[in-house]
Amino acid sequence: MTFPKGFLWGGATAANQFEGGWNEGGKGPGVPDHIRGGTVSAPRLWDKEIDHDVYYPSHQAVDFYHFYEEDIRLYGEMGFKCFRLSVNWSRIYPNGDELEPNQEGLDFYHKVFAECKKYNIEPLVTISHYELPWGLSVKYNGWTGREVIDCFVRYATTLFNEYKDEVKYWLTFNEINIGAQAMGRIMSLGMQGEDGKPMFKMEETPEEASDRFTALHHQFVASAKAVVIGHEINPEFKIGLMIAGSMVYPLTCNPLDVKESQNKMNMNNWFCGDVQVRGHYPYYAKRYFADNNITVRMEPGDEEILAKGTVDFYSFSYYMSSTATVDKEKIAKMGNMFAGIPNPYLKASDWGWQIDPEGLRIYLNDVYGRYEIPLMIVENGLGANDVRAEDGGFHDDYRINYLRDHIKAMEEAIEDGVELMGYTMWGCTDLVSASTGEMKKRYGFVYVDRDNDGNGDFHREKKDSFFWYKKVIESNGADLD
Ligand code: BG6
Repeated sequence: MTFPKGFLWGGATAANQFEGGWNEGGKGPGVPDHIRGGTVSAPRLWDKEIDHDVYYPSHQAVDFYHFYEEDIRLYGEMGFKCFRLSVNWSRIYPNGDELEPNQEGLDFYHKVFAECKKYNIEPLVTISHYELPWGLSVKYNGWTGREVIDCFVRYATTLFNEYKDEVKYWLTFNEINIGAQAMGRIMSLGMQGEDGKPMFKMEETPEEASDRFTALHHQFVASAKAVVIGHEINPEFKIGLMIAGSMVYPLTCNPLDVKESQNKMNMNNWFCGDVQVRGHYPYYAKRYFADNNITVRMEPGDEEILAKGTVDFYSFSYYMSSTATVDKEKIAKMGNMFAGIPNPYLKASDWGWQIDPEGLRIYLNDVYGRYEIPLMIVENGLGANDVRAEDGGFHDDYRINYLRDHIKAMEEAIEDGVELMGYTMWGCTDLVSASTGEMKKRYGFVYVDRDNDGNGDFHREKKDSFFWYKKVIESNGADLD
């Protein structure tokens, strides 16, 4: 049996894409509540003021807020050992800087965790998944303001105290390394955008990049402080980091392409893990900051905080790999910013994400070799346009194939000697896409009746992959057929 006893099989979600109830139960608005839906060709737009005639996908999402009992019952039926969800920060601190939490918000998650307990499902809680309260975004330009560190620490401390007997596994920030790229300004760092303009900004001045890396530094400090406090509150807590994981291969064996891929892996992938696992900035960051005229505003004492607050485990999302080259012509042709330059050896999903299970095995080996701490895959899956078949069902064999290949790659990595704690498939119940804001890009074992324009009654239906994953979990990964 390859998978260890107690392996955490399950699924993953995030409040802003799943929960809805955006103005219920005393919740304040969050940054995602100001972002419209889009598609690959029509990017999501950021609105300074919410326009009540416009459909914002996060406002109702797929209404976990009212469907949580049914959703968790379905997870129980599949045999989930673990359910990853995020707490919506502005449900607990509606503006972000209050001194007292919103009791109704706290009660909601008590109910959610009680449901999980019924089915012996271990919750894995992301404290911040692209969900900065709007109030902090406006007041401090998101994480650019050092004051946000204290707000986060207060919020995290509240969660640790409140749920110390219900939750053991925590992640401080979702995909913290997205903030190391210009596209992460709004989504990851909650910075203010340009009214009515796309939420992903791709070009920055050195001053803007300095603000962004300072904001990211504040997240590092906040995370480290939270890790220390969490362990004081309950020494049994396991507190991890979370990285958007991806292999960046050199497009050719030209050493310049190899160097380019190394640069990309360093700053886009390893940088944040190096800070949060090793407790200090890596050597290569210095040169990167100098070459790009970036100044990170740090304060005395920050280095000590980072050194003290290192994480217990390394978690990551993994969907695809990409390539890097110095060939300017090829770079110019690069269409989709997520997918990068096409790798001739790989096929891509309908959204252009290049499918690469072998890359997962390589990545697992590389991360484990680098840090030698337990790893967990907390997101992986296939975004696809599921169409109802004539017999009324959803026969998502393409999703089963994708998941099977990635689970096989995990199996190989475990055989290689990698310590892997668990696997939570992304979007176990269909939810809103983060990058495009679509409903059409579905990941779930469970279908939700909702479309890109907000039509549908939210009822849930099992897809074929539901029954397949149940068998996988029952057999602890031995039966993948
Ligand atoms: C990760 C995020 O980037 O990938 C999730 O943590 C996101 O929030 C997931 O939903 C899949 O991306 P997308 O754009 O297909 O929703």
